[in-house]
Amino acid sequence: MHADSEWIIRQMMSKDIDQILEIEIVSFPTPWSRRGFEQELIRQDGISLVAKIGDTVIGYIIGWFGVDEIHIANLAVHPDWRRQGVARSLIQACIHERQICHWAWLEVRSSNINAQSLYRKLGFREIGIRKKYYVQENEDALLMAKEF
Ligand SMILES: CC(C)(COP(=O)(O)OP(=O)(O)OC[C@H]1O[C@@H](n2cnc3c(N)ncnc32)[C@H](O)[C@@H]1OP(=O)(O)O)[C@@H](O)C(=O)NCCC(=O)NCCS
Repeated sequence: MHADSEWIIRQMMSKDIDQILEIEIVSFPTPWSRRGFEQELIRQDGISLVAKIGDTVIGYIIGWFGVDEIHIANLAVHPDWRRQGVARSLIQACIHERQICHWAWLEVRSSNINAQSLYRKLGFREIGIRKKYYVQENEDALLMAKEF
């Protein structure tokens, strides 16, 4: 779909899920399950993309579509490939896929300063807080959104 100098971005496939789970586990305190990703592959009202170099998955994004919005539900980049623009490319590709959308939004942990920096850099702004959204850690989520 989209090619960068080193990686390509394309639709997620079931053969990607093993590698995705490895990234997921090192990226989140409460990782998604295999079943969670499998369900995304058959979802009609959303998009699942991977960034790959050859057969190696280096990042992925999952977006859920509303009438005129995209909810970014999951995004992670392999630790070896961070700070090289992979997440930026994935977000841009996700938005590009749904050009009728007027805005994108997401929840991010209040402690996840790195991801907040990414979203702010890409023009997302904080629009609210969901108190204790992450139940296991009793942690708030910031609600961030970007209008196009
Ligand atoms: C957050 C995450 C997805 C960023 O991926 P990435 O590919 O490293 O991000 P990019 O290289 O596209 O970053 C683009 C810009 O975002 C900002 N940014 C990204 N990571 C940052 C960090 N660790 N610290 C500060 N700013 C950061 C920077 O402005 C960066 O531009 P620059 O490198 O030119 O300064 C990645 O760190 C990750 O997978 N973290 C664990 C999972 C996670 O938190 N996902 C988001 C859940 S809401």
